[in-house]
Amino acid sequence: MSDYQITPLDHDDIERITAIEQRAHLFPWSASQLAVSPRQFDYHYVLRLATTPSTIIGYFYARCIAGEGEVLNIAIDPDYQGQGWGWVLLNGMITTLRHVGADSIWLEVRESNIPAKALYQKHGFRVVHRRQQYYRCADGHREDAWIMEKRLT
Ligand SMILES: CC(C)(COP(=O)(O)OP(=O)(O)OC[C@H]1O[C@@H](n2cnc3c(N)ncnc32)[C@H](O)[C@@H]1OP(=O)(O)O)[C@@H](O)C(=O)NCCC(=O)NCCS
Repeated sequence: MSDYQITPLDHDDIERITAIEQRAHLFPWSASQLAVSPRQFDYHYVLRLATTPSTIIGYFYARCIAGEGEVLNIAIDPDYQGQGWGWVLLNGMITTLRHVGADSIWLEVRESNIPAKALYQKHGFRVVHRRQQYYRCADGHREDAWIMEKRLT
């Protein structure tokens, strides 16, 4: 694994982030969602993972309110998946949220998202609830959301 940095996202990164988002997610956030929504409130944390200053390979959007951290978005460029970068990025997110006072981290994930579920479980997240038929699927059907939590205290 090469050297890397996890640093705050800059507005100039949005184009690259949007390109990754579109390839990584079934229902991607738009460029305007990626650019604006996380910056509206000062309790949002948006960081990029890069192997050189200009080579962004992943990012996360998270927030922390009243001690509760929440994962809003996390992705690794498909060209770099399966090489340990998701593990690195999730570690960076946990460190960030712990640093700003999170006692726990919450997230929701599609039941069919095997890689993400495995990553979270490997990091000690546990399933606390299932929202029935929460997400729509590409074929028009719906699937459950898993609500997962990791305690930091
Ligand atoms: C989920 C995601 C961030 C994982 O990133 P990654 O760089 O591929 O993950 P890593 O290589 O660090 O793998 C870490 C662990 O995740 C799990 N994992 C990763 N890819 C997997 C796969 N294809 N199948 C099963 N488990 C997988 C494994 O537990 C793995 O640990 P191991 O290698 O010791 O078995 C990445 O797949 C991604 O960006 N997916 C699209 C966006 C997304 O779904 N985000 C989450 C929304 S909730």
